[in-house]
Parts: sequence; structure tokens; C-alpha cells
Amino acid sequence: SKNIVIAIDGYSSCGKSTIAKALAKKLHFIYIDSGAMYRAVTLYFLRNNVDLNDHDAVTSALKNVHLNFHSRDYQSHITLNDEEVSEEIRQMPVSELVSDVSTLREVRVEMVRQQQRMGKSKNIIMDGRDIGTVVFPDADLKLFMTADPKVRAERRFKELMLKGEDVTMEEVFDNLAHRDYLDTTREESPLVRADDAIILDNTTIDQAQQLDFALARILPLL
Ligand code: C5P
Repeated sequence: SKNIVIAIDGYSSCGKSTIAKALAKKLHFIYIDSGAMYRAVTLYFLRNNVDLNDHDAVTSALKNVHLNFHSRDYQSHITLNDEEVSEEIRQMPVSELVSDVSTLREVRVEMVRQQQRMGKSKNIIMDGRDIGTVVFPDADLKLFMTADPKVRAERRFKELMLKGEDVTMEEVFDNLAHRDYLDTTREESPLVRADDAIILDNTTIDQAQQLDFALARILPLL
């Protein structure tokens, strides 16, 4: 039988990765965090002072970026040129630049190519912004996640606090608003709900309810 692809898209900090990981664990699917890829590219660009307006510099820098996923316990561990960067890509310097890097066509073409290869013959769950629209337009199930911006910022702020990050609630809220703005208005594959994506608003529902919602739509496909 054909492999199954589940695409989860939505705004920043809507809990896409939380539900994707839970589903992957339950279904024994591979989870791929596409945002981690854009974040790792951004980290490389930051460290090497790549000028985002210089297309040649971006193209040649991309050739030196080698990403790999190592899935332990369905958490996504990503390496950048064999260095584990899973923690560093979540920190504010990367969060503040990643949506600018993600507007670049050269970057998107390369990420999409790698993502499509990962979904070729395996059962996967991939989350991001353009998974149901561009990466896997024929995905077996598409979810589009959304939640109240204040609730999202509070959740992300708590996460960062627990990790000991030195950040304010206002910075987190502004960063989410800024990324949503860039992600939805960019020219190159903007964040938009695919016509056949099912909306999942989790402002007021808990993780167990989200999981049930998704499983009810996935189990019939298996
Ligand atoms: O998913 P996460 O919030 O970690 O993604 C970080 C950023 O990467 C997003 O704000 C967006 O700018 C970009 N991104 C993207 N396309 C994807 C996944 C992430 O443009 N498929």
C-alpha cells in the first residue's frame, strides 16, 4: 500500500509540533519539523554573516548547509553540518531572523526539494507553513492550525521561561506577530490554508482533545 503523508500547517506557536509528535508516536510515523530546517539555515546565515540581499552569497552559502534529522523519542533533533543545533535554533536571535530567511526563493526551493525526498516512501507527519500547499499538495490529510494570538504567546513564553531564556512576554508576542505577518504576506509560498485542509483551532481545547480530533480523521486512512 502507498505511504501516508500528513501535512500540518498554521501560524507560529499554535502547537503544531506538539500534536505532530504525539501523532507520530501513536501511529509510528516519522515526524519532520520543517521549521527546524529553516531555523538551522538561519543559524548558519547568522554565524557566517550571509547578506540576505545578495543572491549569489545566499546560493553559495546554501551549498555549505547540510541538515540531518535524528529522531529520538519522536522529538526532532537536527544537525547542521554534523553539529547538534536543536536547542540553539529555538533561541531568540534565530526566531527574529528566520522569517526573513524564509522569504528567500533560493532557500525555499532547496528546503522543499529535501522535504519532498523525505516523504517519498515513508509514512510521515510534517509540520510547517507550506506543507499542504507546496510540499505535499496531495497529502492524505491536511490540518490547518490556529489559536488566539495571546494564548499562543503565553504558551511560547512559558516554554522559553522553563528553558531559562531571558525574554519578556512582550518580545515573544511581538515576535509571533512579526513572523505571522511575514509568513502570510511573503510572495514565495505564503502561509495560507489549502482548500482541502481541515481547520483545528486549539485556543480552548487541550492536547488530548486535539489528538482525538486528528486521529478520528487519520485512522480511516490506515
Ligand atoms: O515552525 P517554526 O515556527 O519553527 O518555523 C520558523 C519559521 O520558519 C516560520 O516563522 C516561517 O517563517 C518559516 N517556515 C516556513 N515554511 C515552513 C516552516 C517554517 O517558511 N514550512
